[in-house]
Amino acid sequence: MRAKIVAGNWKMNTVPSDGVSLVVDILEKLNPTQMGDTRVIIAPPFTHLIDVIDHVWEEGHISVAAQNCHHEDSGAYTGEISAGMIADLNIDAVIIGHSERREYFKESDELLASKVDAAIRHSLMPIFCVGESLEQRQSGNHEKVVTEQLTNGLFHLSPEQMKSVIVAYEPVWAIGTGETATPEQAQEMHAAIRAHLSSKYGDLAEEISILYGGSVKPSNAREIFGKPDVDGGLVGGASLDASDFVSIVHAMQTAKGGLRAV
Ligand code: PGA
Repeated sequence: MRAKIVAGNWKMNTVPSDGVSLVVDILEKLNPTQMGDTRVIIAPPFTHLIDVIDHVWEEGHISVAAQNCHHEDSGAYTGEISAGMIADLNIDAVIIGHSERREYFKESDELLASKVDAAIRHSLMPIFCVGESLEQRQSGNHEKVVTEQLTNGLFHLSPEQMKSVIVAYEPVWAIGTGETATPEQAQEMHAAIRAHLSSKYGDLAEEISILYGGSVKPSNAREIFGKPDVDGGLVGGASLDASDFVSIVHAMQTAKGGLRAV
């Protein structure tokens, strides 16, 4: 069975001391009976990682992710952070290819493929993001854009390596805009992503978690997570509010775990 995952991407928000308060608040509010087997991932900025990992250390169902890594293991790359440095902190995962990295930092598919390799070399799970712009959707190219991003970023991996990958579908037009893909639009693209993964990896595609990202909120999470190919969410803005984030985690279990809404 595919893992159910709700991940919070804090982006460049909070100072480290606020980040610790936020994680403590999230841990206090999470209700194990309402979260069931949903796995929670928190992705704070680099400066917060040591403190945050200290707080979640004992919580088996909560992991910490970095938001980026460099593709080389070490060297003269002033200001950069390698996958090995992140892994040495006992971090489990790293977000790769977020649309903000693709757009503002001009990260190409080729660079992202080498970042995926760096993550896997150091046993970090890559949370690999794909998604189309509004223009690409309006011109009907959304599926082509997304499947090409998958091919270019991931298809060099062996099936064994692919097992550690989490895919996040994040339509760029829905990120931080308050616009959300409808549950039907999300399902359609998630099914297309799974079919594309299956064309290369066969049955393994059924085991890969595909998260939806783009203005996920407590009010829309349950409906989106209820779709068969949506295995969770990558949450930006709403992950900065402990109550909202925890409601989204609980919505996952309500949507997939057969629990009644409370
Ligand atoms: P958002 O961000 O939830 O604020 O739209 C999602 C993301 O970029 O991961």
